[in-house]
Amino acid sequence: MGNCCRKPAKCAHASSSSNFSGKAKSQIIVKQDSTTTYVSQQTPLESLNKSLIASKADSSVSSNLKSFSFNDLKLATRNFRSDNLLGEGGFGCVFKGWIDEHTLAPTKPGTGIMVAIKRLKLESFQGHKEWLTEVNYLGQLHHENLVKLIGYCSESDNRLLVYEFMPKGSLENHLFRKSVEPISWATRMKIAVDVARGLSFLHGLHANVIYRDLKASNILLDADFNAKISDFGLARDGPTGDNTHVSTRIMGTRGYAAPEYVATGHLNPKSDVYSFGVVLLELLSGRRALDEETGGFAEETLVEWAYPFLKDNRRVLRIMDTRLGGQYSKKAAQTVAAIALQCLHSDSKNRPSMVNVLGSLEQLNTSREMPRTPQLNTSRDMPRTPLQPQAKLEHHHQGIKHTNHPQRISNV
Ligand SMILES: Nc1ncnc2c1ncn2[C@@H]1O[C@H](COP(=O)(O)OP(=O)(O)OP(=O)(O)O)[C@@H](O)[C@H]1O
Ligand SMILES: [Mg+2]
Repeated sequence: MGNCCRKPAKCAHASSSSNFSGKAKSQIIVKQDSTTTYVSQQTPLESLNKSLIASKADSSVSSNLKSFSFNDLKLATRNFRSDNLLGEGGFGCVFKGWIDEHTLAPTKPGTGIMVAIKRLKLESFQGHKEWLTEVNYLGQLHHENLVKLIGYCSESDNRLLVYEFMPKGSLENHLFRKSVEPISWATRMKIAVDVARGLSFLHGLHANVIYRDLKASNILLDADFNAKISDFGLARDGPTGDNTHVSTRIMGTRGYAAPEYVATGHLNPKSDVYSFGVVLLELLSGRRALDEETGGFAEETLVEWAYPFLKDNRRVLRIMDTRLGGQYSKKAAQTVAAIALQCLHSDSKNRPSMVNVLGSLEQLNTSREMPRTPQLNTSRDMPRTPLQPQAKLEHHHQGIKHTNHPQRISNV
């Protein structure tokens, strides 16, 4: 596997409850769109844990997923050759590989279909938990804005995941890499809508699934820049009934995680809304949630930097990415900045729901009033957003410690 996997594994904060035990059986049932649903009769973690413990060839885990042998995946990636390496994250390395479209058997490089194969670092216990969570969620949830999981491998200590290949890679590469051509305003807005749609789908499920790890590197792009959310290792069922939150170990990524979640471990769907607000800011500004070059030490987050501009209508366009070359509608940019500000509200109750955010962004994308050429700024141009009025974002990041990229939240 060469010298990849230098990044630290994801880690946890403080333990208040487990992802993997003590949870009542839940069904994953969609409320909103029956064409994209799967209904589970059994808690997915239970069923998968049982089959893994039984060490069966776990085709019973999910009829939707292929169980690959480790040898299959070695063949598909030419023994995880380093020139097949697509990228590396906290979980492990991602390789491209080739399989037959119909039989899913490994094929010669360049034949069949290309897939992305993520290989868990062997030493990572947390990685195993995330692998299991991902198999459970992505094995059952299907939506055009969620990356497709084709199969998995669980053979002795090896844990791998096989995904559809996303030719344009991650949003992170397109927004922040100087060597990559900048993406246009229209593409950025389409990506925002796609991600909002994916999150709305999750939040609309009966189990109120919370994604918990939204960030530019987890947004993958197909050949036409359609965006899909990947990496469900931190996802979990959200609060139901009268509960306002679920208590969890604090997991996520610095610069993206909602402040109240980092402070308390209380998780609800509005935590995803906050992270979505950070991604919107990244799309607008072309700046990272937390600057990698400084290692994050004593640096302000993107949210802290952008806040004075976001709340001042006359200065809000100063956050805009200069790589856009002014090729965007000023009104549209102001509207998106206003939506971002609402998503980033310090009080989670005052953040809009993802469905509302999606509605606002879709409305903006279909609006015909968007001028192609930039205009001079006047505060009177500030549109009224269909969401809540702009609200003050209080300084709320004292609880987040800064570490090196990828700034996983770790023991504080
Ligand atoms: N399905 C895929 N198709 C194409 N490239 C992919 C796919 N999945 C991942 N990649 C590439 O591999 C890189 C690493 O992904 P990975 O999810 O392991 O790490 P990450 O998102 O940077 O960090 P984290 O572990 O915190 O999620 C991505 O940035 C992307 O470039
Ligand atoms: Mg990722």
